Amino acid sequence: MKKLAITMLLAGSTLLMADGAAIFAKCAGCHGANGEKAALGKSAIIKGQDAAKTIEKLNGYKAGTLNQHGMGALMKGQVASMSDADIKAVADYIAAMK
Ligand code: HEC
Repeated sequence: MKKLAITMLLAGSTLLMADGAAIFAKCAGCHGANGEKAALGKSAIIKGQDAAKTIEKLNGYKAGTLNQHGMGALMKGQVASMSDADIKAVADYIAAMK
């Protein structure tokens, strides 16, 4: 029983760690596989960006209040269905990019 619990715990944490990468897969087309591109020639380069800053921006897009380069509505569509946990996971993933 104890062994099973530990196995489940490990599986759970692996899943959590994979989250940011899995979410970013749908962002990579525009922002680059390593966050190195200016999306559609417009956005800032986001790789290595402080997670708190990314969270603030993504929440702004989600709320429809952020529009930095005239394409806020497009980003709103990207993040609309993301939970707070999803946003944090992807922000941490972007912050870790080099
Ligand atoms: C279809 C292309 C596209 C996709 C897919 C996309 N983005 Fe963007 N992203 C943009 C554009 C264009 C902007 C600039 C929006 C604006 O005018 O403010 C942007 C802006 C951003 C910014 C703010 C950068 C800045 O300029 O300060 C962040 C952070 C960001 N995107 C993260 C993400 C994340 C995370 C995902 C995946 C969940 C994602 N994007 C998916 C095109 C895209």
